[in-house]
Amino acid sequence: MRFVPIGNEFVAQEFVARVEDIDLRAPFDAAAVAAIHAGMDRHGVLVFHDQPLTDEQQIAFTRSLGKIELNTANNVTRLDQRRLSIEMSDISNLDQQGNMLARDDRRRAFNLGNRLWHTDSSFKAVPAKYSLLSARIVPSAGGNTEFADMRGGYSALDTETRAEVEDLVTEHSLIFSRGQLGFTDFTAEERVKFAPVRHRLVRANPATGRKSLFLAAHIGTIVGWPVPEARAFVRDLMEHATQPRFVYSHKWRQWDLVMWDNRQVMHRVRRFDDTKVRDMRRTTVGGTEMTVAQAA
Ligand SMILES: [Fe+2]
Repeated sequence: MRFVPIGNEFVAQEFVARVEDIDLRAPFDAAAVAAIHAGMDRHGVLVFHDQPLTDEQQIAFTRSLGKIELNTANNVTRLDQRRLSIEMSDISNLDQQGNMLARDDRRRAFNLGNRLWHTDSSFKAVPAKYSLLSARIVPSAGGNTEFADMRGGYSALDTETRAEVEDLVTEHSLIFSRGQLGFTDFTAEERVKFAPVRHRLVRANPATGRKSLFLAAHIGTIVGWPVPEARAFVRDLMEHATQPRFVYSHKWRQWDLVMWDNRQVMHRVRRFDDTKVRDMRRTTVGGTEMTVAQAA
């Protein structure tokens, strides 16, 4: 296994690495697992090309890295409408029968929230650790996924702002991120399921000690702040953290698998021709702890 840093004129060399000489279908020994974790701590985003995985193989690789996060309370697709197993997050524009979702389909409208900068599952009290996204069918143009290095964003804050954000606690919910796009027709049951959770705005990677901003479109307020002031400040921080010098844009090829650390990285998908099939399948390594105690 070899890690080859991918830089460009903007983004720091260590943010993204291509991993070569590896077959993700093969069983992983402890040394290989340790090397992947070390690579994630160092880089934040890892790109694996030419990995033709089945769902079962993707799930097995994910399980070798930690406890897999099940897809409950992640979206508005009912259990009986699911196309994929509960271990997989369906990042496609397809329904259970493999037909394209209609333009006005409620599930499609909800999933458009992926176009906003976010971290996966930060709307859960225990947020996700890694996401692994496998490209099964990709449109010929558009649909890049962009990644922002939140360690870079944190270290580039001026001293005053860094001190100000250190102990702030935010509230995250899917209701807030979807609300930004005007999606507000949640059922009473969904409102309960998507109730806000609290997170620290600054997190440190336990392995490296490196701090990062924990931002996402899911943030609706800062605890103890007036809402408009909190949202204006979070918007400023988002702009700061997503400057081109912190952002890598991934152009997908079929059978790419890209893996990122949600504790240190934000991401978003860019627009593409939604009359073409895009079938991406995500598995998620769950986090191990809350970032802060939840409100009673
Ligand atoms: Fe995502």
